[in-house]
Amino acid sequence: MTDFIPPYPERPAEYLGPLETIKRARNDLLSIWPEIVFTREFISLKILNYSVFIANCPEIVRHIFVTNQTNYERKGFVMRSVLEPLAGDGLIISDGKTWHKHKRLEAPLFTPDYVTKYSHVMIQTTSECIQRWATITPGSTIAVLPEMAKLTAEIICRTLFGSELTTQQIEQVVEGFAKYQAVMLPKNFPSLLWKRKAKAAAKGIHEVVDHLIAEGVTKSNEGTLLSLLLKLRNDDDPENGLTSKQIRNELIVLFLAGHETTANTLAWSWYLISQCPEVEQRLHQEVDKVLANRTATFDDFSQLNYTQAIIEETLRLYPPIPILSREAKEKDFIRNKEVPAGSTMLIVPWLLHRHKKLWDKPDHFIPERFLPNAPKPDKYAYIPFSGGPRVCIGKFFATVETTLCLAMLARNFRLTIPEGQTVSHECRLTLRPSDNLPMQITPR
Ligand code: HEM
Repeated sequence: MTDFIPPYPERPAEYLGPLETIKRARNDLLSIWPEIVFTREFISLKILNYSVFIANCPEIVRHIFVTNQTNYERKGFVMRSVLEPLAGDGLIISDGKTWHKHKRLEAPLFTPDYVTKYSHVMIQTTSECIQRWATITPGSTIAVLPEMAKLTAEIICRTLFGSELTTQQIEQVVEGFAKYQAVMLPKNFPSLLWKRKAKAAAKGIHEVVDHLIAEGVTKSNEGTLLSLLLKLRNDDDPENGLTSKQIRNELIVLFLAGHETTANTLAWSWYLISQCPEVEQRLHQEVDKVLANRTATFDDFSQLNYTQAIIEETLRLYPPIPILSREAKEKDFIRNKEVPAGSTMLIVPWLLHRHKKLWDKPDHFIPERFLPNAPKPDKYAYIPFSGGPRVCIGKFFATVETTLCLAMLARNFRLTIPEGQTVSHECRLTLRPSDNLPMQITPR
């Protein structure tokens, strides 16, 4: 077991005032939490005129996600406003009847049977990445975060649309999203200009996806999520299916939710492994034994216990979506405190995953806690994929993808941090390593 404590932002000695909280949060959502919050179970704050609550123990998280889920189904105002121009009524932002219908129709496309089929794309795309990396001069520095982003963007694009999407089309989609994300930084939000720019950036993405939908089911997109969603199309009777526009929104949500999250996870894993020789050694032993010298298959996933434990521990320490926000529909009472209708309820994986009452050595990197024989953490203390009915639809997809990608790449390469270089984080909407994470690559 390692003694390594990876970096985290300095914790203020006490609660910051409302103005300082807002000021800091615009640049870094992780720098606002004082030490004491990592021991508290339920927190109530007044920020300007808003009532904000933080559910910070498994019992209350369960209440929000499951027991009183219908009251907290609605996403927070910022999340809805930021994503609506791009993804309309797509899964991640809708609620009520629309969300129920879409989740019911889409969940069957993410069962283990389907993920087994999608795993061919994961393996093929990672093999191509290995071939590309093999041409890099040993000892060169590569930007690991963009490398992982390219890999996971290609995987999700091919899973959604098929491998015959032209490079130009993939670039148009990826660039469109990058532009949209640059516009939607919290520091630009909310302004009229922001709204106009967001709409313009969204238009480019809508055009590509609408075009692919208009082409319908073809030989080249057989088995893709696009073709599966098109089978649910019913423009004449939307009660019993999805309209073309709803299919477009869902494809956009799947791309949006499914590529940066996995890229950040992989990038953080590389960093953590590079700092712990004993973890790296155990990882190498596992991948050398399980994958040996052949191409990976889906069946390898269940043998890669240590690789998966590294991924799970990475998701604990650096959850890609570190803050989840909900709006209370009606008045509620939690621990004898009134939660007024319309107030904001935060569930913060960043706090829960490092809570002093829930974890032994909460800030240490210890993959062994997630090995199959270790005691399981409470279901509502470990929530990188959220929980309850609104749990991430891609949870199993992402777990298989990150585990197979990491195993295949680690079978072939080592990545190390150049001497003297420090690593920090960036946290606006998602949590990622800062400065693109430069690392030196050497073949194994
Ligand atoms: C490590 C990777 C991933 C992480 C950490 C992650 C995390 C999350 C979290 C925390 C939520 C809930 C957000 C909220 O409540 O505000 C969510 C929702 C969602 N995720 Fe993921 N996700 C990952 C990968 C994926 C992938 C690969 C896909 C698709 C292929 C995906 C699709 C979705 C969708 C559609 C939702 C909305 C579900 C709903 O509202 O019912 N995610 N994800």
